Amino acid sequence: MKKKIIIDCDPGHDDAMAILLAASGVSNLQIEAITTVAGNVGVGKNTKNALRICDLSGLHTVPVAMGADRSLIREPLEAAHVHGESGLDGTGLPKEPIKKVADAHAVDVLIEKLLASDGDITLVPIGPLTNIAIAMRKEPLIIPKINEIALMGGGTYGNRTPAAEFNIYADAEAARIVFESGTPIKMFGLDVTHQALATPDKLEELTAIDSPAAAAVADMITFYSGAYKGNFAGAALHDPCPIAYLIDPSIFELKKARVDVETKGEFTYGMTVADFKGRTGRAPNVQFATWLDQEGFWQLFMDALRSY
Ligand code: BDR
Ligand code: CA
Repeated sequence: MKKKIIIDCDPGHDDAMAILLAASGVSNLQIEAITTVAGNVGVGKNTKNALRICDLSGLHTVPVAMGADRSLIREPLEAAHVHGESGLDGTGLPKEPIKKVADAHAVDVLIEKLLASDGDITLVPIGPLTNIAIAMRKEPLIIPKINEIALMGGGTYGNRTPAAEFNIYADAEAARIVFESGTPIKMFGLDVTHQALATPDKLEELTAIDSPAAAAVADMITFYSGAYKGNFAGAALHDPCPIAYLIDPSIFELKKARVDVETKGEFTYGMTVADFKGRTGRAPNVQFATWLDQEGFWQLFMDALRSY
């Protein structure tokens, strides 16, 4: 039995790699839809990139729906310095996708799919949480229908500011709605995604794989590594982490925590404040990923690219 998922994303190099992993021959996931949101670059460019990745990975029938073009309250925030002007710079992929965007808003696709489901769809948000929050507000009946949310975002420290990770910082109000919704959440934040580093030896191994998907990923990692130079041993594969978990949970270790999203702090806006020790006296709302089996992760990722 395949696990049904909807990927809500802002591709973005690591978003693209997450889609490729989910669509690969080693995956036990059935992608019901891909929804896009403003994040790494504007939602129009992110959507075009999602379509280009669908062309590459053979996802011809999966609907791709465009969503929110800005966060709930904040001014739009982008990460073009990391992903380039197009959001997916550095690859030789055709600039224009063959696949067409769906004729419905992402929020409506999320609502429709969830309401029609048996409660067996897992949401995988790997961009700002704007679409998910709007969908929850527009149709609260979807909340008990969500099997679980496995998201990339947050951490006990930040990358956009010292306190906040990009996806949460880009729309902390939306993140707060989602974290307070009562939906079971598995959170793959920087603490664990910074353990998934594409070091030069991994890049070399990837380059030796003879498939168009592997070649595109090697180009993506080469470009995207620029943003990590100096501070890290390689580019962090953030967004593939929740997908890898859903395919093989044994690769990760998770701990229960109460996580609250800071929306008012002068220096801490967008921080995910994690209470592992019960200091708040409030029930845990998150399973927080703390550890990644690097060997297992890379084995899965390479096998996925070999399967194309
Ligand atoms: C997150 O921010 C984006 O730039 C990446 O795609 C990832 O989802 C990492 O902080
Ligand atoms: Ca992303």
